[in-house]
Amino acid sequence: MNVIVFASRKGGSGKSTLAAHLAALVHKSTKPCLMIDADPQGSLTLWHKLRGTNEPPIKSAINSVSGIVAAAKRDGIEWVFIDTPPNTSAVVEDAIKNATMVIIPARPGVFDVNAVQDTIQTCRALRKPYAVVINGAPARRDDAESPIVTIAREALAKFRAPVWGGQITNRADLLMALAQGEGAREYSAEGRAAAEISKLWAAIERSVKAIRGSSSASGAMHKQAA
Ligand SMILES: Nc1ncnc2c1ncn2[C@@H]1O[C@H](COP(=O)(O)OP(=O)(O)OP(=O)(O)O)[C@@H](O)[C@H]1O
Ligand SMILES: [Mg+2]
Repeated sequence: MNVIVFASRKGGSGKSTLAAHLAALVHKSTKPCLMIDADPQGSLTLWHKLRGTNEPPIKSAINSVSGIVAAAKRDGIEWVFIDTPPNTSAVVEDAIKNATMVIIPARPGVFDVNAVQDTIQTCRALRKPYAVVINGAPARRDDAESPIVTIAREALAKFRAPVWGGQITNRADLLMALAQGEGAREYSAEGRAAAEISKLWAAIERSVKAIRGSSSASGAMHKQAA
């Protein structure tokens, strides 16, 4: 079983959005997922209510996720997605302790990029693999990324933070899908939002395989926290 934790103390960076879209993409009866909403704001829980199918199932966590994660393993769950609140509270630390890999979403602004450092520190202290994912970025034009994104990448490089080479663009489809309790592909299978979410998932899977030692780390986006 693999546990993907979405963490960043910056509010609105995209933790709940990425958790919902990825869980909707990955969950199948052959690949059972569990979502854990460890944020009292309950964004993921709201999306799940709008979805109305109980697939993938969701559990709420208040102070700790460890018991839920242990039960999920016994139940044969393959992927656990944990959404966390925008702070550095005990439940965030507990989620990161349980992580196979931590995804740190960051919008490409100076305040946003700066705010990832706390979460990176926690991942390093707990020796957990992590990667920053640039979210809410301006669309690429003529196949070139926005200067804002390039500047964000340069700033992140100074923290020696591993950053996914792709981006999740600011797209109305991602919002519209959430409002209907859907993932990007369910909302618009051929859409650009769905293509980006699928690309991000492929990168996460590659990293997890490398973390598990079943493939080489070349092409993996994460950094094994040292
Ligand atoms: N790539 C995107 N395109 C369009 N809207 C987005 C994108 N990412 C996030 N949003 C929207 O921005 C808002 C904040 O995102 P989200 O709630 O996922 O952030 P969060 O990190 O979970 O916030 P919090 O820290 O408050 O839990 C939401 O309304 C969300 O739907
Ligand atoms: Mg959230």
